[in-house]
Amino acid sequence: MASTGRLRAAKLRRVSNRDLLEDLFDYVGFGEDDRDALVAIRPFVTPAFEGIVDKFYAVITRTPRAAAVFRDGEAQIARQKVHLRGWLEGIVGGQYDAAYLELRERIGRVHVRIRLEQRFMFGAMNVIRRGLHDALSASEADAALQERGHVAIDRICDVELAIMLETYRDRYVEQQRAQERLATLGQLAASIGHELRNPLAVIATSAHLLRKKVDDAGARHVDKIARQIELGERIIGDLLALAGDRPPTREPVDLISLIEDVHDSLVVVDGVNLLLDIDPSVRTVSVDGVQMRQVLLNLLVNAVQALEAKGGGTVELRATVVDGHLEVDIQDDGPGFPEGLLERVFEPLFTTKPGGVGLGLALCARIVKKHGGTIEARAREGGGAHVRLRIPEAVAT
Ligand code: HEM
Repeated sequence: MASTGRLRAAKLRRVSNRDLLEDLFDYVGFGEDDRDALVAIRPFVTPAFEGIVDKFYAVITRTPRAAAVFRDGEAQIARQKVHLRGWLEGIVGGQYDAAYLELRERIGRVHVRIRLEQRFMFGAMNVIRRGLHDALSASEADAALQERGHVAIDRICDVELAIMLETYRDRYVEQQRAQERLATLGQLAASIGHELRNPLAVIATSAHLLRKKVDDAGARHVDKIARQIELGERIIGDLLALAGDRPPTREPVDLISLIEDVHDSLVVVDGVNLLLDIDPSVRTVSVDGVQMRQVLLNLLVNAVQALEAKGGGTVELRATVVDGHLEVDIQDDGPGFPEGLLERVFEPLFTTKPGGVGLGLALCARIVKKHGGTIEARAREGGGAHVRLRIPEAVAT
């Protein structure tokens, strides 16, 4: 059962993060012999995968705070069972290279995105570990293989857990940095924002007066100036709201009027259609109307801009009630969020939009969070972006 020859960096196809994998293998003492043992026990443990997956989800569903991360309920659990099974196959797959690490890191990022508390990972990994050990013990593998197999199972599970925890740590450091940037930004924002508002207001008034005095060609330019002023005002507004961090004041708000108001504030863009699908049973919602207007406007502006860059498309806003929670989905058939960056799009100053500042979505996330809700960026089925937000206890049932 002694591990011979470590899996060295030379085996990795890509250079990225190879030190992490190599360090982890070294740390838990995972070597060639462990890999061979895992491959050798594969036929003995694979028949137990179905049972391990079922046990895994049975344990999760018994723990309400863990089960709560499955926001889409049974359908999502069914999907995840398939993922988990694939992951188990990878454990005894014998390919522990850069692609293996990348996949594991993605899993970690998904868990961070869905706000799975780190502590649940330990119990979850134990269910898997126990399941694999039990399956091997009950199998007809000979005693020598059993011995090597048990050691290898422990080592690979340790590596898996370490990768997942590492992803949490990286994410935590990133969030800390974002907070620090935000704190500095907040101080600057309040003063610069106020200072800029006045000159912008003067320019806006002058542009308005000038508009009446110029010919058509001149009017086009004045309109351009007006649009840029609007953009500037929006950035300043976001900046001040982000820096101000006002707690929400919930009050009864008519959802249809709120959405109509947001709709009226949107700049019409040729070729971009907006579809509204509002559950007729949702009339009055309990939210901070000013803040929620800002959230919906920022999300829709983003969607419209993504489609404008693509030359047109459809934005769909769906609002409905799920167990007294207001659920809003905004989807577009534009280019979608860049893959692998879904969990970062709500960070302040993070942007993938040319000329973007990275405040709009950060502000949305801040407001939703202050309402005790959640916001998630996803890939839309069939291509495009999908943002789902949920505001708890927003509707009387
Ligand atoms: C050993 C522990 C775990 C492993 C190996 C694991 C594995 C996976 C895998 C392979 C994915 C798919 C990632 C992708 O989209 O590429 C995933 C996503 C997910 N996992 Fe886990 N998981 C673990 C623990 C947990 C726990 C404890 C929970 C809940 C309490 C959980 C909830 C979820 C959810 C909700 C998603 C994604 C949902 C979605 O995209 O719709 N996982 N996990």
